[in-house]
Amino acid sequence: MGRAFVYVILGGGVAAGYAALEFVKKGVSHGELCIISDEPVAPYERPALSKGFLLPEAAARLPSFHTCVGANEERLTSKWYKEHGIELVLGTGVKSADVKRKTLLTTTGETISYKILIVATGARALKLEEFGVTGSDAGNVCYLRDIADANRLVDVMQSCPGGNAVVIGGGYIGMECAASLVINKINVTMVFPEEHCMGRLFTSKIANYYEEYYKSRGVNFIKGTVLSSFDFDSNGKVTAVNLRDGSTLSVDMVVVGIGIRPNTGLFEGQLTLEKGGIKVNGMLQSSNSSVYAIGDVAAFPVKAVGETRRLEHVDSARKSARHVVSAIMEPNKTREFDYLPFFYSRIFTLSWQFYGDNVGEVVYYGDMSGSTFGAYWVSKDHLVGAFLEGGTKEEYEAIAKATRLRPVIEDLTELERQGLRFAVTV
Ligand code: FDA
Ligand code: NAD
Repeated sequence: MGRAFVYVILGGGVAAGYAALEFVKKGVSHGELCIISDEPVAPYERPALSKGFLLPEAAARLPSFHTCVGANEERLTSKWYKEHGIELVLGTGVKSADVKRKTLLTTTGETISYKILIVATGARALKLEEFGVTGSDAGNVCYLRDIADANRLVDVMQSCPGGNAVVIGGGYIGMECAASLVINKINVTMVFPEEHCMGRLFTSKIANYYEEYYKSRGVNFIKGTVLSSFDFDSNGKVTAVNLRDGSTLSVDMVVVGIGIRPNTGLFEGQLTLEKGGIKVNGMLQSSNSSVYAIGDVAAFPVKAVGETRRLEHVDSARKSARHVVSAIMEPNKTREFDYLPFFYSRIFTLSWQFYGDNVGEVVYYGDMSGSTFGAYWVSKDHLVGAFLEGGTKEEYEAIAKATRLRPVIEDLTELERQGLRFAVTV
């Protein structure tokens, strides 16, 4: 039993949704494209899950945030896929792939064959068990990667109004969930091993701004230590979190955000892997010429930083998706992917954007005691990265443009003096 398609997208997340829209724009024929996803719903904007989805009032719910509304494009519901002759195989995992035969075997026992495969399997949340702690299955321990996790998080939050939550991890999930918990009037303690939050991106000075703001909203920080074990009640619910520094926190719920692992398992031993993802070239093509990879799972040459990287952000998922469709359908017109890394977050009433690379010397600008400030990163005499909190649309566009231009910076003091004006006038 099996079906055959010209194009198959494996995975039905952000990248899949944006690729589908691009395929339609480029004139894919009915019956040529299939998307296989183990999620039960059509592709949606995953970032909504830690923001609008968790609001106590007027919370975002599907179908409002199907892709591609996040980029102000059409909202693709299951009906849209049907109308455009795209086979959307939902609630179905792929359990094995054979890139020589060009086939995928699904959990329903069907073999789906392709001429061209686009791998868009994203990533899975790391579990505490991978750090030697048991208890992830407890009813009040939450992770956040997909819509099922988000529904569960909402249920657990609603089961303990005014209660105490411990958030494990000081990265994106930790910061965004902590803010959402506070907005839901839950008391939050954040626990993470680093000296400050958002260690992969923020300097200690930038992190301090957000930590102080979080403290003003009642969040308690315990830094430089990790969880060692949970205490449970007779129903298997976690009642306390024991930390390696010897302290114990009593809890009503726990949220865990300790990083991700790309879903490459189906292709290990078949495709070249790098940086934990599927290595692709500037056309997003893997070591097998019939297989492409996009989004969180792809390790691609990031020209702007001069090396191969795997990015775990929605803008790169959207843009790599659009690019791969051009590379496949219009190869002669398509140049190598030239991507400027772009990360952002919105927490409470705060909002920041970052472009480029956070290496080299850091020059701060603006008023860190006010609502607008930022930083530039200068490496080998060039501006390579820019961060801005509280900017206007035009100011964010300006720091993006400045970072892309990589201007020569001879005098850091002068850059500091000019501050945001430098980006606006460059
Ligand atoms: P994505 O994870 O979206 O999709 C992968 C899909 O493949 C899933 O549907 C999965 O179920 C499916 N799949 C995997 N293996 C499969 C198999 N074997 N068979 C069938 N299906 C399979 N970024 C950002 O820049 N700003 C932000 O504010 C946020 N906010 C945010 C919040 C939350 C809660 C999360 C979890 C993530 C973010 N992100 C973000 C990150 C962003 O969402 C992420 O980079 C993109 O979703 C990546 O898109 P992909 O399509 O690559 O993976
Ligand atoms: P992350 O990599 O941002 O942060 C992981 C955090 O885990 C680290 O900062 C560290 O504090 C913590 N940690 C690591 N080991 C630990 C341990 N043993 N005990 C306790 N803490 C430990 O990952 P995340 O926050 O889990 O986010 C998951 C994914 O979702 C990432 O790909 C992220 O980019 C994406 N995401 C992005 C956004 C955004 O861009 N605004 C928002 C939400 C999620």
